[in-house]
Amino acid sequence: MNSHDLVIVGAGLSGMRAAVEGVKAGINVAVVSKIHPLRSHSCAAQGGINAAIDPEDSQESHAYDTVKGADYIGDEDAIDLMCQEAPGCILEMDGWGTPFSRLEGGLIAQRPFGGASFDRTCYAADRTGQVLLHTLWEQLVKAGVKVYEECSILKVSKDANGHVAGMVLFDIKTSAIYPVQAKAVLMATGGYGRVFISNTNATTNTGDGMALALRAGAPLADMEFVQFHPTGLLNSGVLVTEGARGEGGILINAEGERFMSKYAPNKKELASRDVVSRAEQTEIIEGRGKNGGIFLDLRHLGGKKIIERLPQIRQLAIDLEGVDPIDAPIPVRPTMHYSMGGIRTDKYGETPLPGLFSAGEAACVSVHGANRLGGNSLLDTIVFGKVTGARASEYVKKIKSAPAFPLSDVEECRSGLNDLKNREESGVRAVELHSRVASSININCGVFRKPEGLEKIATEIEGWRSDYAKVSVADKSDVFNIDLLRAWELNNQIDLAECVVRGALARTESRGAHSRTDFTERNDEQWRKHTLTTWNESTGKVDLSFDTVRTVGNPEYTPKVRTY
Ligand code: FUM
Repeated sequence: MNSHDLVIVGAGLSGMRAAVEGVKAGINVAVVSKIHPLRSHSCAAQGGINAAIDPEDSQESHAYDTVKGADYIGDEDAIDLMCQEAPGCILEMDGWGTPFSRLEGGLIAQRPFGGASFDRTCYAADRTGQVLLHTLWEQLVKAGVKVYEECSILKVSKDANGHVAGMVLFDIKTSAIYPVQAKAVLMATGGYGRVFISNTNATTNTGDGMALALRAGAPLADMEFVQFHPTGLLNSGVLVTEGARGEGGILINAEGERFMSKYAPNKKELASRDVVSRAEQTEIIEGRGKNGGIFLDLRHLGGKKIIERLPQIRQLAIDLEGVDPIDAPIPVRPTMHYSMGGIRTDKYGETPLPGLFSAGEAACVSVHGANRLGGNSLLDTIVFGKVTGARASEYVKKIKSAPAFPLSDVEECRSGLNDLKNREESGVRAVELHSRVASSININCGVFRKPEGLEKIATEIEGWRSDYAKVSVADKSDVFNIDLLRAWELNNQIDLAECVVRGALARTESRGAHSRTDFTERNDEQWRKHTLTTWNESTGKVDLSFDTVRTVGNPEYTPKVRTY
């Protein structure tokens, strides 16, 4: 059986940054990825990464903006840690060769981003995630880290004492199913954007890591907080970076009015994303949109600036909307972009399930609370990839022998997948069921949430589960059977949809990205707390409970100790 000290699931920025720490610690670390690491969704992050590197800026100001942007439900110990580590992490990535855009004198350039009180977003044109990803991949290649490429994990396995013992892997290339033993597992599988029909996410973002952690007994936190990015391309949902507004782009409605002046007179287009998305949605609902969207106007920036600073955006607008932003406004709309919720961890990325760690979008540390600031997600991946990788490496060094792997898990996964693959033609296709699930979530649990919409999804879930039990796949082959993979992933997406809706129904207030039409105010007295969803094996549903927000002055707040 393949065996490692630490197996990291996901080869995006947080996963690869964690692996570098494993290498530094001298442990046997491996990475699993559904796709080649360079195709990880981190490469789609465009606009930049926040850090207070300008002497006139400060880590305290960055932390303050983040706490406020999170609508006072982020864990402040983790926010402090992230903002303190940010400058060092940027300089480290710079030293490893990330080609950041520069000012004339050679300093790293920074641009304004939403919700920030200082221009603190470092960037590489509009391809920041991609260049960071390439930099970390070089580090992994240099160190010779073992990568299980194009492999999906089917289950987090535990020993008889409930300690994580590794995982069952599905090799997408060959359909082989086999165990990989580990002393610890670090989930860095990113988000679950594909649970929503309109999203900025890659097709791989099905939230498998979160769903498998949930099924293994780890709690998920704050799943109701789902970020809609104000500028997804109208027809495809593909991201148009906030950097476009940072460079001076404005939002206009179908009447040509710059409507953000009404909703956020000071910050306008650079208010936080929840505010801008609600403003856009209001314009659309009140009939001042066009074809369900509004427009991002860059024309006044001029061709030279657009080509130099936003080359990818220009090309995407031309290719996907048939619009050259030099000549015409780009049709956009609020689009699911990011999950603030995820696997509940402490500030070192450790979960309550012994041996399970998590970092990046898969985790809820929680630095983003109810609404993430643009540019803080790339930062989260690099800082908490590093912190959690270091913590998990320390942890495995203390474990003398690997936990016993329950081989029955392999048989269970094999027969589950074979059953799905060999099921007789039922007429229920995963793609069609997915479309029903993702459309309903998008409509009923979107930018604004009506009670009747949330109740509607809650009643639909059982129907989705019973239809899922009938799903059949047309492709019976063993080589790159994506039909089978998509069908298998759908179960994870239904679990996560249930968590999102349970949280959204329970939270009877409006906070950050969670905006209820029947409870329009923030209610700190009752709701300044995290929701937790856990899997109930006996009912086959999720249970809901609560967790404390770690604030300064709260006994559970632990100040940062530099032990890594
Ligand atoms: O708009 C963007 O470039 C996205 C950045 C982010 O989500 O942090």
